[in-house]
Amino acid sequence: MMTLPRRRGALLPSLPIPFSSLLALLCIASLTSNSLVHASFFPLSWSMNSNCTMPGAQTYTLPALPYSYDALEPSISAQIMELHHSKHHQAYVTNLNKALGDYAAASAAGDVPAQIALQPAIRFNGGGHINHSLFWRNLAPQSSPDASPDAAPRLVAEIAATWGGLEQFRKAFAAALLGIQGSGWGWLVREESTGLRIVTTKDQDPVVGGEIPVFGVDMWEHAYYLQYLNGKPAYVENIWKVINWKTAEERYNGSRDDTFKLLRASI
Ligand SMILES: [Fe+2]
Repeated sequence: MMTLPRRRGALLPSLPIPFSSLLALLCIASLTSNSLVHASFFPLSWSMNSNCTMPGAQTYTLPALPYSYDALEPSISAQIMELHHSKHHQAYVTNLNKALGDYAAASAAGDVPAQIALQPAIRFNGGGHINHSLFWRNLAPQSSPDASPDAAPRLVAEIAATWGGLEQFRKAFAAALLGIQGSGWGWLVREESTGLRIVTTKDQDPVVGGEIPVFGVDMWEHAYYLQYLNGKPAYVENIWKVINWKTAEERYNGSRDDTFKLLRASI
């Protein structure tokens, strides 16, 4: 059975982290999910007031890549990787920190209109930080054994059971990616109740809810245009050569908490 792609809202991490960090991420989650965040998403039973008040603004840093900028060539050029990571991702981190700082100040001042005005910036930049942190980790150099589907035996078996085979899945995933209008992301996700599904998200909305993001592909033009120009299908074809199947297998085998432990470690 082929799962049709669908637009989703944001995804939110359940990150077992220091309280201040977690509180900030809870805020991002609640602001990015449009009330789609489930209480069960979070591993502990903290309380947070409805104003998302934080004791202080959490700041984030750009995670280092687990490989060099030229490591994904020829699928993704070093120029794209350097700009994408050091400029685009850095901008999401910088702007998220600014928005969270302003939000903390507005919250402390009881300025609800200012808090509301900041929510789109937190959603956009928080989502960008989450998505790219996941993305870098689900890529690997083509020469690495991690880039072979052989590194993901349980996941590949489930893909075969769901789509009929790896090639059929690739075609379905590619169709979802190429069907994205404007900027967005394509994700393979695992849900407890429905198993594997392909979903797409708009702009920088992350996957939120019960899903585990097994792997994602950035379909913003900044991810491919310098190398592929308008040849988006070629980018989609070549991205398969650098998917980190080992990471995908780990995410597939693990819980949502496990996935975001790894994400937390990277941000
Ligand atoms: Fe990107």
